[in-house]
Amino acid sequence: MKSWPKIEGAVADYVDANWLREPPLRRRLREETAKMPGAGMQISAHQGQQIGLLARMIGARRAVEVGTFTGYSSLCIAEALPANGKLWCCDVSADWTNVARRYWKEAGLDGRIELTLGPAQDTLDWLLAQGLTEQLDLAFIDADKENYDTYYERCLKLVRPGGLILVDNVLWGGSVADPGDTDTDTQAIRALNAKLKSDKRVDLVLLAVGDGMTCALKR
Ligand SMILES: C[S@@+](CC[C@H](N)C(=O)[O-])C[C@H]1O[C@@H](n2cnc3c(N)ncnc32)[C@H](O)[C@@H]1O
Repeated sequence: MKSWPKIEGAVADYVDANWLREPPLRRRLREETAKMPGAGMQISAHQGQQIGLLARMIGARRAVEVGTFTGYSSLCIAEALPANGKLWCCDVSADWTNVARRYWKEAGLDGRIELTLGPAQDTLDWLLAQGLTEQLDLAFIDADKENYDTYYERCLKLVRPGGLILVDNVLWGGSVADPGDTDTDTQAIRALNAKLKSDKRVDLVLLAVGDGMTCALKR
């Protein structure tokens, strides 16, 4: 069990040199975001590449993203969808998502993306009310951690059997394994991790990328 690779220093450079395929537009978004407060919220380039590949693997056409920020993960997902695909994005910040909107337009992907500003729970309920139960192929959850379980349950309804739910930051910098850490966010992530371990509605794997990403395939 204790065999996860530690990728840092020269090994990280080697990994970047041999596996990373970050298009110039995404690199530019990363550089612009790096100057902003909250930059650390952005997913890594490798993670974005992984999400895009997973979306292609399942032939995703319709997806939802919970937590868009400046748009990096949404670009990765939207690019992986076919021209008639659709990505619904949820966020509460007009400032951050205005950056995302700029990049969606420049990438020519704005026609595939619909952003709703407001609490993600409301947006997910709205999608369900639109008759999209089991109509989506992919959900990526990366917003406020205390609502992770709420988002998971709603996304599980939205995603079709054979669809994927990806949940970011499930290791939370390692704090989930520290019993002394009783922070609300840590507890929420820990509770969802424990619940998914025996959730018979999905097949489960941890992708050890970034801050840890749960990959749950709906049965
Ligand atoms: C970790 S960031 C998302 C990073 C993004 N996936 C990326 O690739 O750059 C989390 C985002 O969730 C948003 N957020 C926080 N609380 C929210 C809520 N209740 N509903 C919707 N979005 C929320 C924040 O505004 C922030 O942009």
